[in-house]
Amino acid sequence: MKIEFSASQPSDVRLIARVVNQGDDLTDLDAALADGAKAARFAGRAGQVFEGFVIDDGALRRIALTGAGESNSSDRRLHVERAGAALMAKYLRSGETEMVVDLGHADLSGEEAAAVLLGLRLRAWSHEKYRTTLAKEKRITLEKVTVVGSPDGTEAAWETAAAIATGTEFTRTLVAEPANVVYPASFVAMCEDAFKGTGAELIVLDEADMEKLGMGALLGVGQGSERESRILAIRWNGGAKDEKPMVFVGKGVTFDTGGISLKPPGGMEDMKWDMGGAGAVAGGMLAVVGRKAKANVIGVVGLVENMPDGKAQRPGDVVTTMNGQTVEVINTDAEGRLVLCDALHWAQEEFAPERIVDFATLTGAMIIALGNEHGGLFSNDDSLAENLTAAGKTSGDKLWRMPIGPAYDKLIDSPIADIKNVGPRPAGSITAAQFLHRFIKKGTKWAHCDIAGMVWADKPGHSWDKGATGFGARLIDQFVKENVEK
Ligand code: BES
Ligand code: MN
Ligand code: ZN
Repeated sequence: MKIEFSASQPSDVRLIARVVNQGDDLTDLDAALADGAKAARFAGRAGQVFEGFVIDDGALRRIALTGAGESNSSDRRLHVERAGAALMAKYLRSGETEMVVDLGHADLSGEEAAAVLLGLRLRAWSHEKYRTTLAKEKRITLEKVTVVGSPDGTEAAWETAAAIATGTEFTRTLVAEPANVVYPASFVAMCEDAFKGTGAELIVLDEADMEKLGMGALLGVGQGSERESRILAIRWNGGAKDEKPMVFVGKGVTFDTGGISLKPPGGMEDMKWDMGGAGAVAGGMLAVVGRKAKANVIGVVGLVENMPDGKAQRPGDVVTTMNGQTVEVINTDAEGRLVLCDALHWAQEEFAPERIVDFATLTGAMIIALGNEHGGLFSNDDSLAENLTAAGKTSGDKLWRMPIGPAYDKLIDSPIADIKNVGPRPAGSITAAQFLHRFIKKGTKWAHCDIAGMVWADKPGHSWDKGATGFGARLIDQFVKENVEK
């Protein structure tokens, strides 16, 4: 979606939209239009859209009002974003090719105006490259948004917000592409492309490198696949030289069949998005790098494909992880933790972070617990957990804290090895977190975000259509902004 700023309203655009606060009087509008809005019970509530038609100088104009809620709401930023998103949802496939958006009426700050545009841009994203026979009336028609009446500071704030949009879109693309397109090596190639010329440094480990490092858990997951496993680190040195980096780690299982503990066929296609944690980290990094954040941040993703095969690992196999602990693989479908334990250990050894946060579509049990409203948050540090929760609230990528502790930890003791990779059925998301916790060094602040319910949506949400949501990218960017940048 092209978004351009203009000092004056183009005269040849039929569709003109404006942002309206709850309770605003509409007296400067055409009287019939204002009456119509009232009759349709348009009250300027966040996400509400009203459309009316007027004849202006003999030309038909389509006038849209989009609600931004109460101007003093504590959720103001998200509400104005919703105003933009709701507009886009209505007009993206409306037949109109251009829209004028007038930001001069709702008493918006520059930041808030940019948030309207962020909503427009995010809601315009779709993944339709494989739909060659889509009916004409269902296709995207809107190509360009011309922004008028923008308050001071809008364009500067938009530079930042546009980087966030680009990062979120990258996450969505990685998540939406099928597993014959996104596999470990191609994930790396897509990142090499996306980060080209940004100043970020990319470090890639192939299977031979990982063997040397002793990553038996990660390699064990990938050994049933024709696709070679990878680890990718994306490094951004935007902060002071002596400053310890903030590290994010993502689960990148590019397809999860379950391995020999094969999943049932119904819905297995969803497991193309089992790399959603890695997608969040890659997109979050692209946002951070794109807006040249003054912080040292590193994103590490563990990339594997979990397939059943003559070479695949078996239930009962014992693997040795990079940090020396042995794992009894009870269930080859509990593979995410096997990938993450080596990725987390390597990231701690390599980059010595004070804080490390992982993102993973780790357990189906997380969806049972929290549905599709919050990601689950597990942490050994209260302030890190609070900061992540807060960043989740401001960014819209919401998290909810879950407990961990020794009583849960002992559920994954193994009779033959140091740990087993699954516990009993109850508290399945917590025992998965406990597994990861065993690979966190003493003194390192760690949080784990189980985002199994968040990366894919069956129905449209505020700023996304059904499909890939982009969850996590904005959370990472917001966390860096609030807690890492000086
Ligand atoms: N990738 C899945 C988790 C998942 C399931 C995410 C459904 C999104 C939707 C993970 O690798 C997995 O299979 N977990 C198992 C763990 C079990 C074997 C202990 C699960 O949740 O069933
Ligand atoms: Mn699995
Ligand atoms: Zn998985």
